[in-house]
Amino acid sequence: MAPTAHPALAPHERAIARFAELVRTGAVAAPRGDTQLRGDTQLRGDTQLRCGVDLGTANIVLAVVDEDNQPVAGALTHSTVVRDGVVVDWLGATTAVRGLKDRLERALGRRLTRASVSIPPGISAGDTAVFANVLRAAELDVVEVVDEPVAAARVLGVRDGCVIDVGHGTTGVSILVDGRVARSVDQATGGHHMTLVLAGAYGMSYADAEAMKKDPDRQDDVLGVIRPTLEKMATIARDALAGYDPPMVYLVGGASSFANAPEVFAQVIGRPIARPVEPLYVTPLGVPMTAAGVSGAAALSREPVLTSEEAA
Ligand SMILES: Nc1ncnc2c1ncn2[C@@H]1O[C@H](COP(=O)(O)OP(=O)(O)OP(=O)(O)O)[C@@H](O)[C@H]1O
Ligand SMILES: [Mg+2]
Repeated sequence: MAPTAHPALAPHERAIARFAELVRTGAVAAPRGDTQLRGDTQLRGDTQLRCGVDLGTANIVLAVVDEDNQPVAGALTHSTVVRDGVVVDWLGATTAVRGLKDRLERALGRRLTRASVSIPPGISAGDTAVFANVLRAAELDVVEVVDEPVAAARVLGVRDGCVIDVGHGTTGVSILVDGRVARSVDQATGGHHMTLVLAGAYGMSYADAEAMKKDPDRQDDVLGVIRPTLEKMATIARDALAGYDPPMVYLVGGASSFANAPEVFAQVIGRPIARPVEPLYVTPLGVPMTAAGVSGAAALSREPVLTSEEAA
């Protein structure tokens, strides 16, 4: 299958869009040195691949990249094995990671034996060890433990900036200075809370509200109801930014997918916001990447959303 071309996107956004497509289709992209998609040809045995595992509250995502940090394959499964940054279902977590690994190994025609794992910043050494042990239980040697915002920053090609990751359970705000996390705040407001608000507003079950939230045809009924939750998340970010003046604020995570999210954050924080395409896939794609990230990413990033004052 020919990959979809994304000529209008900056390099990092092309990589994110490509990765999302690989996860959705189950396809494998040709890594450096290979000229065709697998299905037409086997992966060259000497092609170096790196694997990463993102254990989220709603989604577990495995990503495989090549030596140039370009996405080669990916797999996602919905999950409930992590809560508040803690692995609460050991068997579920190890079974899910093993299942995704098997799926990617079959697609790649190659065994995966090593992987990096992401962790929410600031969790305890004990909780970090549990994340790493999930990989070991799935027969993956742990190459690196990466803070989630650092993973996102690698994809975005950012060494200095603020990364807001709005996941299912929490809003994480991390300020990166010279490639390291200088401040990190994680508070319990995420996509889960939006679903609860929708369920309450429309008197429907949690499952129905979760489906409605993500249905593109229902966004007119969704955006107004979830707006106060977005404003709360933006307030968490604004408070976390106090005393810092990062060059750019990036918005990632599945619960930042709403059309009005960048505008709400820009208004509350009073700064321009850059949300890349497919925000759910940013952090997972960065887990296996080397620190160099996607080459040329930051220099070519898209026009940020402006705050209302700047736009006026
Ligand atoms: N198209 C969409 N529109 C709105 N919300 C979405 C969309 N796609 C996913 N979400 C929401 O994004 C959340 C999942 O995002 P993500 O995968 O980034 O979270 P996670 O990494 O599992 O959670 P956390 O980072 O809190 O541990 C869920 O609440 C899901 O409902
Ligand atoms: Mg996450």
